[in-house]
Amino acid sequence: MNHSIYHRRSIRKYSDKQVPKEMIAQIIDAGRMSPSAKNRQPWRYIVLGGENKSEFLQHMWKGIIREENERAMLPDSKNGIPDAKNTWKIMMKAPILIVVLNTNGKNPFDVIDSDGRIAEICDTLSIGASIENMLLKATEMNLGTLWIANTCYAYKEITEYLETDQQLIGAIALGYADESPAQRPRKNMEDIVEYRL
Ligand SMILES: Cc1cc2nc3c(=O)[nH]c(=O)nc-3n(C[C@H](O)[C@H](O)[C@H](O)COP(=O)(O)O)c2cc1C
Repeated sequence: MNHSIYHRRSIRKYSDKQVPKEMIAQIIDAGRMSPSAKNRQPWRYIVLGGENKSEFLQHMWKGIIREENERAMLPDSKNGIPDAKNTWKIMMKAPILIVVLNTNGKNPFDVIDSDGRIAEICDTLSIGASIENMLLKATEMNLGTLWIANTCYAYKEITEYLETDQQLIGAIALGYADESPAQRPRKNMEDIVEYRL
């Protein structure tokens, strides 16, 4: 099926080829067109390349190492640290990172009430829709992407480096793919859907 929904893959190997700024703008624009709860459009994107990307990744690495060795902020998620290190290496090779922020989001290490949580779920879903729009647009443009949540291990270091109080949702690695992975396994239709027609 010749459609980006079916062609998109998580890309974990990138070539050095640079992505023109105009293409990045088209991808962000696809994110901007996403639906959002109450049309709040709670997204903000910071596009990093070159030295800015390197600096960002230095801070992310510091956070992962702190999380591993001292003052873990996510102590029950330590088993994800090797995967976070692997993601970091992938991010090093990708020419562009798009950092995704929730403009309405609170620091996830603060306690929130149920009303706040519902609003945050809606905003998070809206941002997820915008990220998927961007991944699909990039696929249409023959670019590879990786949706990244492993930034969570360096939440403090990254938000301090970016000088933002907005909520860090994650990042998207973007570039020309240097691999063409097969489709990853999916659950069967009968296991996920129940028709009550
Ligand atoms: C919310 C979210 C967070 C993810 N975070 C990471 C990540 O930090 N590192 C990584 O390598 N892949 C990450 N992925 C990619 C998934 O591992 C991938 O989508 C899944 O294994 C299915 O593979 P596919 O995207 O090629 O279909 C993430 C995906 C989503 C939706």
